[in-house]
Amino acid sequence: MTIASLSAPRLVRIGPGAVAHLPEVLARFGLSRPLVVSDPQLAACGLLERALAPLRAAGLSPAVFIETVPDPTDRVVEAGLAVLRRTAPDCLIGFGGGSPIDTAKAMAILAAAPEGTHIRAFKVPAEADQAALPVIGVPTTAGTGSEVTRFTVVTDSERGEKMLIAGLGALPLAAVVDADLTLGLPPRITADTGLDALTHALEAFVSRRASPLSDEFARAALRRIGPNLRRVWHTPQDRAARAAMMEGATLAGLAFSNASVALVHGMSRPLGAHFHVPHGLSNAMLLPVVTRWSLAAALPRYAEAARLMGLVPAEEDDQAAGAALVAELEALSRDLAVPTPAAFGIPADRWQALLPRMAEQALASGSPANNPRVPTAAEIMALYRAVHGG
Ligand SMILES: [Fe+2]
Repeated sequence: MTIASLSAPRLVRIGPGAVAHLPEVLARFGLSRPLVVSDPQLAACGLLERALAPLRAAGLSPAVFIETVPDPTDRVVEAGLAVLRRTAPDCLIGFGGGSPIDTAKAMAILAAAPEGTHIRAFKVPAEADQAALPVIGVPTTAGTGSEVTRFTVVTDSERGEKMLIAGLGALPLAAVVDADLTLGLPPRITADTGLDALTHALEAFVSRRASPLSDEFARAALRRIGPNLRRVWHTPQDRAARAAMMEGATLAGLAFSNASVALVHGMSRPLGAHFHVPHGLSNAMLLPVVTRWSLAAALPRYAEAARLMGLVPAEEDDQAAGAALVAELEALSRDLAVPTPAAFGIPADRWQALLPRMAEQALASGSPANNPRVPTAAEIMALYRAVHGG
């Protein structure tokens, strides 16, 4: 038997309408001067107000930093840090998809370091265990699970690399999880983020670093995501399906925060860094091919995932269940209109030229080593070639 760790926020408030509880959650921890970290789109569409209004109604005067970008960069984190130093909050509220929450986490980590430190000082294998102030995560997509994970991903703009930063300093103090915030999400973002959550659950479940506790989170996530991903794509206003996807995404976050992700995520980050493929979409491009390649190395696990997702009856044998899982991942890519990298607009020659660097970056992130079948750089390049589609 091995010894495993379980880390999670001290409080997770979850359910439709939970965002109204934000002031009370802050009060539980004696916090009263939040800096809300979000993005310009969420501010413009009015969703950010769903967090700000209850805070103001409770007599608080939240500061805001809404300059976060997709695939948050070191520069955005530094800009946020300047606002943090100026406004002197006692906590950060990351409100949005993964990017604002990840930005808030990176700001909190950097604020604990000596002035002038670059965020790359904390990329894996360093351990980012210290944060200067607590983060409360409020997700507006059912995807990243960042509100409950001990990870943040920041792009090194000088070196063109999406850096994985891990440690207790990146773990939110609390999460407020409200599926009603996802009701207006466009189909593309719904699909990409939902496929990200599915990837988290599946990769955590087959990870070499999985534990009995992370397994239970992964199982619970697969049960919810399996039957509901197509429902939220076809019927975006289905509140029950949205709630199930949000629960699934948060449970998947708890699973992979404690089991780590694997080869799909390892190969996915370079697609974001070099070609600005949104995170969920780059996972989705890779998921069927990487799963097929990994299948035999953890067949009982993949087969159980297929059963949990409701793809095959409980009595189905492993071989057939594993095949059904791969078939479903391919069908999901078609049904949810996931483009190949070629269809996304990435030219074959650029793809080919960057393969060695992408493979090197994938391996350096450490995630491929968690995969049931551990690839060489040459095998990663072969997998990249297989997905390009050009
Ligand atoms: Fe992810």
